[in-house]
Amino acid sequence: EKHYSESYPLSGKNILITAGPTYEAIDPVRFIGNHSSGKMGYELAEAALNLGAQVTLVSGPTHLNLERTNLELIRVTSAEEMYEKVESRFSEADVFISAAAVADYRPATVANKKIKKTSEDPVIQLTKTRDILASMGERKQHQKLVGFALETNDELENARKKLKKKNLDFIVLNSLNDKGAGFKSETNKVSIIYPDSKKDFELKSKKEVAQDIIKEIVDLLNA
Ligand code: CTP
Ligand code: CA
Repeated sequence: EKHYSESYPLSGKNILITAGPTYEAIDPVRFIGNHSSGKMGYELAEAALNLGAQVTLVSGPTHLNLERTNLELIRVTSAEEMYEKVESRFSEADVFISAAAVADYRPATVANKKIKKTSEDPVIQLTKTRDILASMGERKQHQKLVGFALETNDELENARKKLKKKNLDFIVLNSLNDKGAGFKSETNKVSIIYPDSKKDFELKSKKEVAQDIIKEIVDLLNA
């Protein structure tokens, strides 16, 4: 017979996940954002729940929804809000998976009234957002940290740099070179990069990719 711990290897584990884009306000009606669907983060949450985990999903604006026992879904808009929610839950987490496409920059100031069209072309000054994953990398103790990387060139080298710089246990490299992989598609081809090794996976659905990633996390926690 199958033991409980085999069916639910993440039972008693707290998994914190970010998903989706962030929107950075320009004025009350406009923002800077990106095309992330949030699908990968939500699939990761489901895969972790199915293995018995307690999941906190901090989600940027998406059309997705997930209602499950053992899931806390927290909706946020901006990178700063996402940072605050992640930061407040990090100490209780066993694993943090950063699947969100966090905006790298936000407008330096937010106009409090809708910006009017004028004869001059406006210039929007941008400033860096906080790197949520790198910040958690700095304060990590027992937590396992997993990041994502989407690169167009020098993929492996760039992904390895991020793995090291952000103090991660592994990073999931999304291959853009293959048809049917990337932001809006239903499928992904990924490599999982560890400090001293690499695993290449086949092109598959985001649900299956999420299951592969969660299996790696189970192994990591058991190691
Ligand atoms: N990330 C984050 N907070 C940010 C930017 C990125 O938590 N402000 C996380 C992402 O969720 C992802 C990882 O860092 O897991 C790598 O994101 P990516 O955009 O690939 O790398 P950057 O460090 O932002 O560098 P660049 O965009 O210049 O490649
Ligand atoms: Ca980035």
